[in-house]
Amino acid sequence: MKMWAGRFSKELDEGVNDFNSSISFDHVMFREDIEGSMAHAAMLGAQKIIPQEDADALVAELGKIREELESGTLTFDPNAEDIHMFIEAVLTERLGDVGKRLHTARSRNDQVALDLRMYLKNRIAEIRELLRELLAVLIEKAEQNTDTILPGYTHLQIAQPVTFAHHLMAYAQMFARDDGRLAGCYGRMDAMPLGSGALAATTYPIDRERAAKQLGFSKITENSLDGVSDRDFCIELAAALSLIMTHLSRLSEEIVLWCSSEYKFVELDDAFATGSSIMPQKKNPDVAELVRGKTGRVNGNLMALLTVMKGLPLAYNKDMQEDKEAIFDSVETVKLCLKTMSPMLRTMRENPGTMRKAAAKGFINATDCADYLTKKGMPFRDAYRITGQLVAKCIERNETLETLPLSEYKAFSNLFEEDLYRAIDLAVCVGQRNIPGGPAPEQVKRQIAELKSRMGFPAKAD
Ligand code: ARG
Repeated sequence: MKMWAGRFSKELDEGVNDFNSSISFDHVMFREDIEGSMAHAAMLGAQKIIPQEDADALVAELGKIREELESGTLTFDPNAEDIHMFIEAVLTERLGDVGKRLHTARSRNDQVALDLRMYLKNRIAEIRELLRELLAVLIEKAEQNTDTILPGYTHLQIAQPVTFAHHLMAYAQMFARDDGRLAGCYGRMDAMPLGSGALAATTYPIDRERAAKQLGFSKITENSLDGVSDRDFCIELAAALSLIMTHLSRLSEEIVLWCSSEYKFVELDDAFATGSSIMPQKKNPDVAELVRGKTGRVNGNLMALLTVMKGLPLAYNKDMQEDKEAIFDSVETVKLCLKTMSPMLRTMRENPGTMRKAAAKGFINATDCADYLTKKGMPFRDAYRITGQLVAKCIERNETLETLPLSEYKAFSNLFEEDLYRAIDLAVCVGQRNIPGGPAPEQVKRQIAELKSRMGFPAKAD
């Protein structure tokens, strides 16, 4: 029998019961539901809304239920409507009238709004910890590669030389911003909605601040209608998670490319790559590809949440039960991807030799050749045109800018001297990009130090 059966003359249709039920996915919030109920019961007792001994009995029994659910001696009833109804039903079965007092001055609408906020706050803390691990790996690899020349690309065409450290640090900057987004999202989510009731708060003299304090919230929600019907905290988190996946996906795509025999910039550890069922020579970057692939579902979850909410009148509507599977899936997917990516990156071996060889192809120092002329007084546009002609000459003669004889250079401009060859040396090209934000080793070291201090990491690698 349903708790709300009083008004009804028939049992709920079995199919509708299944359709309506959310316990198959909201049971994961049982700890938060119990903790929230404990705080609510304690507050009801302290405010003398229910007898103190009833409050104490509720808190004690809720503690037992939590233990039994943790150990598996109590299992979730798949026919229960949701986790909230399930726990209240167990309480009432065990405590009779005392159990029935728990829901005084509360609605499932503010209860679910509370549970979901608490659950997601806990998950955000875990995801931020995983992001820190990923950042630590990226920074560690960057520290080892500040002198490792890597071709930089635009349009996937070789463009200008950078270093492997600079490239990795670009991702570190993205993930650090992701961490900041999670922190901001956490701050806005950190408002305690209990007391909003079904939609119009309650007539009982409850103490919302007390519950907020006990449950670790920094503030309470300010509007009961908003408290029960806002899900922007879910959407915002889903968006932040989509961005994490987008960044992981771009990095994954590069790893896939870098592992190919065309690039060979890195080699994955055997423990993080897979073989083919038919082609014995293969070593596939499945992990990176799966991370890239899973980005699709996380982005899909964001769209699902936005679409569920877009036409809902205030306040609670059952549509909102659809929030959970979407946001839970995004949370779990991101956690799984971060947990897999960090050790894969840590064990990945870079190949500075092939990176450098690739950088030596494709006239990557053409800009530096033009800059050489500009620094000797030629307007940049003229220097650009001459360098273009030099590149054409090299292609015609099957040479590179490094191997083309000075006499050929001089045919284009008398400004060229022997020191040209030093100016277009790759290490010099990188080293001279020595302004804040640039790839010069000195600047990348500064960049690493800045990020470490921003993230509260120890300054020296031990
Ligand atoms: N399982 C429901 C949900 O997730 C809990 C709130 C139900 N409230 C209601 N008025 N039916 O949204």
